[in-house]
Amino acid sequence: MSAPQPSTVYTHGHQEAVLRSHRSRTAADSAAYLLPELRPGQALLDIGCGPGTITADLAALVGPSGRVVAVDASAEVLEQAAGHLAGRGLANVVLECADVHRLPYRDGEFDVVHAHQVLQHVADPVAALREMRRVTAPGGVVAVRDVDYASMTWFPEVPALDRWLELYRRTARANGGEPDAGRRLLSWARAAGFAEITASATTWTYATPERRDWWGGMWADRMTGTALGRTVVERGFAEPDEPGRIAAAWREWSAAGDGWFSMLHGEILARG
Ligand SMILES: C[S@@+](CC[C@H](N)C(=O)[O-])C[C@H]1O[C@@H](n2cnc3c(N)ncnc32)[C@H](O)[C@@H]1O
Repeated sequence: MSAPQPSTVYTHGHQEAVLRSHRSRTAADSAAYLLPELRPGQALLDIGCGPGTITADLAALVGPSGRVVAVDASAEVLEQAAGHLAGRGLANVVLECADVHRLPYRDGEFDVVHAHQVLQHVADPVAALREMRRVTAPGGVVAVRDVDYASMTWFPEVPALDRWLELYRRTARANGGEPDAGRRLLSWARAAGFAEITASATTWTYATPERRDWWGGMWADRMTGTALGRTVVERGFAEPDEPGRIAAAWREWSAAGDGWFSMLHGEILARG
């Protein structure tokens, strides 16, 4: 699989602490708004599939006769997706390295075109949506879901987590993305020319000891062991010891018996 040149830097990178989060995702917790649209036999394109756990669930729902193509700009993460899909015994998925801005598919080739947590990272989300619309068949649907970082809220108030959010949003924008994508999906889809758009929103919440431990531990590890922690220092946004202090704050939040964290995701189903 040869890698295309991605149009933006992927802020999170694909280190273990990032993939740990992506691998936990399912169609039920990440694409529930799309599930009523799915039927066996549909041709489905999953863009920015990452390690492929959502892809696998979608492939099971349109399979065995439905064809799924899953693409990502990273050849490295596609290797992980291949392993996951093989483990699930799914034979109806093809993996390809491609950039959402230049999809190597014919007009109208897919009944369903899906992207989860991708448009927040791309250089031109409206152009990406136009390209998704182009490869969707008449009567087909484009489904997109992205978080809105500014909607993230938590308790107890740990001041270093305010700084974490500020640094993440600044870095994502410096990399050419839009961290508050959720609220913009409807306007981007309108600009891309869709005739009919249904917009909705759902949340993820971390408020049990197990989920707090998992979420806070994952972000603590991301601050010290992934592209994000490195980038905030390299770009001069943070002092060299700040990622470590933010990681400690994440562990402090995880350990709080009354800790709560929630975030909103925008979703669109777009047609025409
Ligand atoms: C946050 S991950 C989401 C992965 C998966 N959809 C999920 O929700 O678990 C975003 C993925 O989009 C990919 N990506 C970023 N820019 C892209 C582009 N221009 N074209 C295709 N994929 C892209 C990244 O490599 C990354 O794997």
